[in-house]
Amino acid sequence: MERSPRIPRHVAVVMDGNGRWAKNRYMPRFFGHKAGVDTLIRAIDLFADRGVEYLTVFAFSSENWKRPADEVSGLFGLVLVAASKYLEAMVSKGVRIRVIGNREGVSEQLQDAWMRAEQATAHNDRITVLVAFNFGGRWDVVQACRHALASGCSPEDITEESFARTLTLSEVPDPDLFIRTGGEMRLSNFLLWQAAYAELYFTNCLWPDFGAEEIDLALASFAARDRRFGGAESWSHGPDATG
Ligand code: FPP
Repeated sequence: MERSPRIPRHVAVVMDGNGRWAKNRYMPRFFGHKAGVDTLIRAIDLFADRGVEYLTVFAFSSENWKRPADEVSGLFGLVLVAASKYLEAMVSKGVRIRVIGNREGVSEQLQDAWMRAEQATAHNDRITVLVAFNFGGRWDVVQACRHALASGCSPEDITEESFARTLTLSEVPDPDLFIRTGGEMRLSNFLLWQAAYAELYFTNCLWPDFGAEEIDLALASFAARDRRFGGAESWSHGPDATG
């Protein structure tokens, strides 16, 4: 069956608002992050049911190291626990997990847990979830430049296509829809290169409250957009799209 271009193949999400959600309940920030993990697990299923093929989530940014040490270690601990607690469910629900980002500063224990999650879900194809952890859009561009220089590229060898192949998400289509919850309207150094033609969607909804209704509002907003990719024709499928 031909897929409708009005359903995004790839959705990227900045899951903002966990801290405020917890504060509204007179609870510590960690409580909000914990609720955020549960919301993510539900959201994976909801996006998959609606035909989204790739979901990239900003779990920890290169800049999140600036947060208090106990919040950073709390987030690392949550992700470590989630990597085993939900693994069986992810395997049985057909979810493929991939972790992207800078491995520097990430404990071996966490890296091992990710490797296990990636291996256990490698053959799933209902939806691919890309967990951006210690990730930054600028870091991604810099690592791609380093890669190009190290491989002896000359300036004329570098084209948008060849450069994009060395970026972290090279084998994934660019995000069609970029969602940020929590009311702020910025990209915060997430997928800078890849989001060049993404439709942006901002909502005041705090991440732990981002359920089916909110997902449907975001997808309806996307479906109503007039995408031209810099050209004159509406709803051209873009360079990466198939079908
Ligand atoms: C932003 O809210 C949220 C984060 C920095 C962390 C998001 C991470 C998760 C939801 C966990 C992901 C888990 C897995 C297993 C991948 P904030 O703290 O900035 O909220 P605030 O703006 O209200 O303070």
